[in-house]
Amino acid sequence: MYYHELIQFDPIETTIQLIESDDKAKAQELVSTFVISDDMALNITKIAFEQLQFEHPSDNKGLLFVGNYGTGKSHLMSVISSVAEYEGMVENVRNERVAKEAGKIAGKDPSKVRIVLE
Ligand SMILES: Nc1ncnc2c1ncn2[C@@H]1O[C@H](COP(=O)(O)OP(=O)(O)O)[C@@H](O)[C@H]1O
Ligand SMILES: [Mg+2]
Repeated sequence: MYYHELIQFDPIETTIQLIESDDKAKAQELVSTFVISDDMALNITKIAFEQLQFEHPSDNKGLLFVGNYGTGKSHLMSVISSVAEYEGMVENVRNERVAKEAGKIAGKDPSKVRIVLE
C-alpha cells in the first residue's frame, strides 16, 4: 500500500491572491473552503455586512482587517467580495448564520448597481 492511497487532499495554497476571486470557479472554491467559527460569523454578520449593506443608510464605515501574516485576511475578503459580486454564491457559504444574513450584500456589488433616475 502507498501513502497516497491512505491520504487524499487538495494542495494547499499558502496565500490567497485576491485577484483570483475575479474568476467565478475560483471564487466558488474560495467561498466553499472558508471555515467560519461562531465568533467569526457574529463579526461578519454584525460588523461587516452591516457596514457594507447600503439599502438602509446608517453612517456606513469602511472595514479594516487586521491580523498577522497567514491568518486569513485575504481569504475572508475574497469570500465577502465574491458573495457581493455573485448573487448565487451564498449557497457555497459554510456557516448557516452567515449564509442567512448574506442576503444583505449578495449580488449587490456597488460597481454593478444601476441607478435609475426618473
Ligand atoms: N478560516 C479559514 N478557512 C480556511 N482556510 C483558511 C482560513 N483562514 C486562513 N486560511 C488559509 O490560510 C492561508 C493564509 O490565508 P491568507 O488569507 O492568504 O492570509 P493573510 O491574507 O491574512 O496573510 C490560505 O491557505 C487560506 O486559505
Ligand atoms: Mg493576504
